[in-house]
Amino acid sequence: MNTGTALIAGGRTGLLGQALVHVMQQAGWTILAPGRDELDLFDLRQMENYIRINNVKLLANAVAFTGVDQAEDEQQEAYRLNRDLPAILGKVCRENNVRLLHYSTDYVFDGKKQTPYTTEDEPRPLSVYGNSKLAGEVVLMKKPWDGLLVIRSAWLFGPFKTNFVHKMISMAKTGKVLSVIHDQVGSPTCTLDLARYSMELVNKETSGLYHVVNKGQASWCELASESLICAGFSTGITPITSRDFPQKARRPAYSVLDAAKFTMVSGSQARPWVQALHDYVFKLQE
Ligand SMILES: NC(=O)c1ccc[n+]([C@@H]2O[C@H](COP(=O)([O-])OP(=O)(O)OC[C@H]3O[C@@H](n4cnc5c(N)ncnc54)[C@H](OP(=O)(O)O)[C@@H]3O)[C@@H](O)[C@H]2O)c1
Repeated sequence: MNTGTALIAGGRTGLLGQALVHVMQQAGWTILAPGRDELDLFDLRQMENYIRINNVKLLANAVAFTGVDQAEDEQQEAYRLNRDLPAILGKVCRENNVRLLHYSTDYVFDGKKQTPYTTEDEPRPLSVYGNSKLAGEVVLMKKPWDGLLVIRSAWLFGPFKTNFVHKMISMAKTGKVLSVIHDQVGSPTCTLDLARYSMELVNKETSGLYHVVNKGQASWCELASESLICAGFSTGITPITSRDFPQKARRPAYSVLDAAKFTMVSGSQARPWVQALHDYVFKLQE
């Protein structure tokens, strides 16, 4: 499956959704990215009609409730978007022979490991966000089919929408001294790379659960420091602990993802996050 018509849920405004639109359009896909006002993703009948009329071959679900702290207070809405929506999209795709590309997160893990998490590791989320995203995976994997691809990724940065890296650079421009958490370590990942690597898996016609991230690991503090260096700032960053910066939701101290299964199936090595970051920040500066 190299091209055709794809529906990108979240493609109008989302950080990853817009990257998918960009990359897939370049790869020759015809893209549909209706906004909330144009298509009700929760309406099974409307979705079926839309898919049939437009001859949709692939649906990428980059819609989610992504406010990790906010989810602690808005549990019902988090589950509606992160569990109930995948269930609906899964049913529509399964019954209409449409490939479904669904995204999940490193926050399904509790961070107790000290080596990268594989797809075989047992998820144990610490937050409502993590639990609701895991519930979305479970609801899909309960009735798997050949066209179902679930991709966990992490710590996204990239063009089209503000993100952690963009925020750090914007704050540095104001001359503020930044204090950033150093005791949470993860896999920083560029949305454009994630979209490209996702397409490699789609083109292999594989299914199941994958971890897809850029290579390497960093703390939030290291990611912020490298971002500022790339952007030409010499401002220092003060490393702080998670205790110094209390947040409503608990986050894993270590959530690096092992992308070995992706490499084995696609034949590609994800490039290092530092390289992807340099490309992103240089373009941002232009
Ligand atoms: N960002 C990360 O660091 C990260 C890390 C790991 C995994 N992920 C996963 O990657 C995927 C994409 O994340 P993202 O960061 O790109 O998300 P995002 O930028 O927050 O975008 C979420 C998208 O969902 C849409 N949406 C939210 N509520 C909706 C509703 N009720 N009806 C219709 N659309 C709605 C938003 O539309 P509006 O703009 O109209 O609200 C937006 O297009 C998610 O599955 C997330 O769990 C993200």
